[in-house]
Amino acid sequence: MKRIKIKELLATAPTGQPVAVHGWVRSFRNSQFISINDGSTLQNLQAVVELNALGEDTLKRITTGACISVSGDLVASLGKGQAVEVKVKSLEILGDCDPEAYPLQLKNRPSLEYLREIAHLRSRTNTFSAVMRVRHAMAFAVHKFFNDRGFYYIHTPVITGSDAEGAGAMFRVTTLDPAKPPLDDKGHIDYKEDFFGRETNLTVSGQLEGETYALALGEIYTFGPTFRAENSNTTRHLAEFWMIEPEMAFYDIQDNMQLAQDFLQFLTRYALDHCAEDLEFLNKRALEEDQAKPQEQRSELTLIDRLKFVAENDFQRLSYTEAIDILRNSNPNKKKKFQFLIDEWGTDLQSEHERYLVEKHFKKPVILYNYPANIKSFYMRQNEDGKTVAAMDVLFPGIGEIIGGSQREERYDRLVKRVNELGLPEKDLWWYLELRKYGSAPHSGFGLGFERLILFVTGMTNIRDVIPFPRYPGNAEF
Ligand code: 4AD
Ligand code: MG
Repeated sequence: MKRIKIKELLATAPTGQPVAVHGWVRSFRNSQFISINDGSTLQNLQAVVELNALGEDTLKRITTGACISVSGDLVASLGKGQAVEVKVKSLEILGDCDPEAYPLQLKNRPSLEYLREIAHLRSRTNTFSAVMRVRHAMAFAVHKFFNDRGFYYIHTPVITGSDAEGAGAMFRVTTLDPAKPPLDDKGHIDYKEDFFGRETNLTVSGQLEGETYALALGEIYTFGPTFRAENSNTTRHLAEFWMIEPEMAFYDIQDNMQLAQDFLQFLTRYALDHCAEDLEFLNKRALEEDQAKPQEQRSELTLIDRLKFVAENDFQRLSYTEAIDILRNSNPNKKKKFQFLIDEWGTDLQSEHERYLVEKHFKKPVILYNYPANIKSFYMRQNEDGKTVAAMDVLFPGIGEIIGGSQREERYDRLVKRVNELGLPEKDLWWYLELRKYGSAPHSGFGLGFERLILFVTGMTNIRDVIPFPRYPGNAEF
């Protein structure tokens, strides 16, 4: 008999027709009622075993976590809690599960910290299956948004010879023997002997390569894994994360900000429209977590209200300079937690500043633009004031920076000068600089951290819980 997924089955009228279902046992009550989940939905299917229909041996093997296949008739359920159930005619154990050893028993709800240690099994929980279904829907929506607007998906390399952010936090890629690497005449490691004949690393961003295609195809985006060897042990950073980077010819910073808002609003709306069941579950989960916190730390809006708010309201746009003025004048109650350390124009904002602007002052997402050149990357377009660049960061409630982007410096002389001022290797950037020699054009782009988006949409609070196998300092077990 053809297997049917539980999600599909629950939407079918129970006319007594035969069905076959495969899935994992969530519970088995009274030697009769098996609750099965197959990952297609949060809802479990009840399969009812007739008394004495199965042998003692089989009954013993129907344990939480075991994988089984059942077939029987789909009928209306008399019990509460489900509309339909399957009257089992035959049952096969596909994979046994030792109930003594299985770490996911229903009795004790495991903590998220513990589940990180069993990342190969946490996929079986409601929380992680819901998060990953939402993650899937968001990945699909990313492609839909850009495809509908005529953007082309460009695959940029994972192994690169350039340092896109000029920040230096990269993972080296090498095939040299660490015990006895070849040395040059100065005694340094000779990367000419390495696989690619030069130093290479895992990419921190596909932007620079993306620009080459924007200046040919017009509007493009990348969506791939990126890597940062920063030693940041926070709830917002991963060493391996996925980034979406659109890059557009003929867009200025204003066009760029508008696209960022449209994109984030489309994604939140898409989640509300397509992930209702999972979001309701995650909403409840977030509420429970919130209730456990002290009053003053609780969110004013529920997860679903937060998503609706973002989908329906314009983001606040203001310049870095305006933000600094607000922060300087805000130090409202002199309580320690609001001691903003904004002494001088030109310092980077800390997350407490960003949170104040978004959560307390404007109470909506904020796009900050025109940052001081000194705290931003070399490729950002220099403004006429000689101090700022056409950078933009989108700040979200509960998340902080979700997008970083800019208009790019398209003027060859200005860009070369900046590269040299910052002591960056002009010889490695020769191809990037050439784009400004051969038919340069104004262009802009940004990067959305995919996991930060998923944090926002699912209401989860630790970025390690929204990617199947998180990479962070000291952790690459799975
Ligand atoms: O601000 P970032 O570093 O910008 C860039 O990489 C640009 N090249 C993007 C562009 O203009 N095309 O990173 C962009 C976004 C951040 O706003 C954040 O959401 C996310 O990527 N991000 C991280 N997410 C998880 N873990 C990390 N370590 C992250 N670093 C950045
Ligand atoms: Mg940034």
